[in-house]
Amino acid sequence: MIERLEHSEYAVACCDGAKGMLQLPDKSIKLLYGSPPYPNAERDYGVWKSSEYIDKISPFIDVAAQKLRDDGFLLINVKATREKATSKTSTKRSLVVEKLAIMLEEHWGFHCVDIEIWVKENPVPTGLRVACQDAYEQNLWFSKSPKWKINLDDIRRPYTSHSVKTYGEYEYKPRSNGLSYVRKNKNIQPNPLGALPINVISGGVSSRILGHQATQPLYLPEKYIKATTGPGDLVVDPWMGSGTTGVAALALERKFIGFDRIESYVNDATERFIESLKGR
Ligand SMILES: C[S@@+](CC[C@H](N)C(=O)[O-])C[C@H]1O[C@@H](n2cnc3c(N)ncnc32)[C@H](O)[C@@H]1O
Repeated sequence: MIERLEHSEYAVACCDGAKGMLQLPDKSIKLLYGSPPYPNAERDYGVWKSSEYIDKISPFIDVAAQKLRDDGFLLINVKATREKATSKTSTKRSLVVEKLAIMLEEHWGFHCVDIEIWVKENPVPTGLRVACQDAYEQNLWFSKSPKWKINLDDIRRPYTSHSVKTYGEYEYKPRSNGLSYVRKNKNIQPNPLGALPINVISGGVSSRILGHQATQPLYLPEKYIKATTGPGDLVVDPWMGSGTTGVAALALERKFIGFDRIESYVNDATERFIESLKGR
């Protein structure tokens, strides 16, 4: 499959994503970015119950550990959904995502860069009466190596008007206890590339694309592709769905390989890639 990338920017296959990744050379993937089926979510493409979640996702992580480059990253976007209520129990939030995060370090030997939060500005109302409405998802961000480098300058954000004003007016002074990075009174200029990024992403949820029930907004994969890869690097999504990760990767001139078990999704994603490469 990797040979196809010599003549094309991307390759896709309709198959189990873990088995598909097994065909790739060891240490070839710079970023594995994907959004697996969410625990307990009933979708057209099936349900991964929280009780079976670790068993279902394990083959993907086993292969990821083998196929990621030593300077590679794993990014899993997922939402901890709820257990079904019964006559005796309220609907309890599943902790399987937290369990997966701990296992990524303790069992698979990855290193946690962060668990970032995607705050959804237009969450779908759940009608919950035993907890607050769901309005965020988690992005489990792990590095294969204990020492990593990310492209912070590529994901800087605009300064708020408040911080620009503060920079203009405020003189930074050394602290009397010496615990300060300024040694003498000075004004600090804002970085022309923008403010340091934060570990919270805010934005709207995508509307359905091509009939897929869980299409992500482009800004999610974009952030992590920019942060962890350079032009020409290989990005892989083993749960490709409507192909959002691929569209983001191709726009940023990365190579992309995607897998999904459902043929119509693979066809629809391919249409999106062809469209996004038009005019190159
Ligand atoms: C949450 S969706 C991904 C959505 C995608 N990020 C997008 O923006 O469209 C999960 C996807 O995983 C796929 N899937 C489920 N089990 C799979 C497996 N064993 N191998 C490959 N894909 C699988 C489903 O068909 C579904 O499209």
